[in-house]
Amino acid sequence: MNIRHLIDITDFTTAEIDALIATAEDIIENPAKYQDACSHKQLATLFFEPSTRTRLSFESAMLALGGTVLGFSEAASSSTAKGETVMDTIHTVSCYADIIAMRHPKEGAPFAASFSSEVPIINAGDGSHNHPTQTLTDLLTIHRERGSLDNFTIGFCGDLKFGRTVHSLANALSRQTGIHFVFISPDELKMPDHIKHHVLEARGFSYEETTSLEEAMPKLDVLYMTRVQKERFFNEADYIRLKDTYILDPEKLVAAKKELCILHPLPRVNEIAVAVDADPRACYWKQVKNGKYIRMALILKLLGIEV
Ligand code: CP
Repeated sequence: MNIRHLIDITDFTTAEIDALIATAEDIIENPAKYQDACSHKQLATLFFEPSTRTRLSFESAMLALGGTVLGFSEAASSSTAKGETVMDTIHTVSCYADIIAMRHPKEGAPFAASFSSEVPIINAGDGSHNHPTQTLTDLLTIHRERGSLDNFTIGFCGDLKFGRTVHSLANALSRQTGIHFVFISPDELKMPDHIKHHVLEARGFSYEETTSLEEAMPKLDVLYMTRVQKERFFNEADYIRLKDTYILDPEKLVAAKKELCILHPLPRVNEIAVAVDADPRACYWKQVKNGKYIRMALILKLLGIEV
């Protein structure tokens, strides 16, 4: 049997992503229809790096589908601590579970793991590389807020160099039409050339780069805020210098469009003031909820279960 994995968002066609969004929207409307869809199926969540949303939304998704979950939330509690390779760990767990969601600090680890797995592997975030299920969450949220995935200007703000969520989302949106990208970051944390040149320019998309959130704000339809990630820096002094470069607060939103959609993959540290949560344009808590529904749709798809 040909096993499907989700390692990179482009593993799915845009038609497949549209179908996942449609399934997630049906799950939101008709949850009871899906409550036994995965009875007798097991999801393993193998997290070699910390997580709150991704791991727990996967587990919540599988439980809501009537399945069960197993796994670990830190490498130290697995035989990785005794020197077992990722390949052997995944091979072992694929003997117990029907599907595996894994997060790993090393770029490419889920791709490598897919070669030793007997069941579908889902990349739940690999280093600074990709986070395709966050991207599915972001796409579902944009679709629900705007009614379409086409024809808007999106600003990515913060750590665009190490931010795997922005790399995956920019990649996904570059397969839509009429998207204009605004990259807002300090010079040290700019969007990598491989995304700008080999993804956006190669597909004919326009983008601009700025260090000023205030300047960019009035033109944005979607603002994707990100955290400056302490864990990706080699030098703590650089992290301390850059961490509070952008702080979105109610004052900065005065210049924003009324229909702006503010997203953040979370966790946040300082980059969105808590006062913004009460603004109707703040969509990041809806985004958290949507993460569960799109992961339910994804589990069904990779297990080949039709409801
Ligand atoms: N968005 C996201 O990946 O959050 P966690 O690190 O909490 O899983």
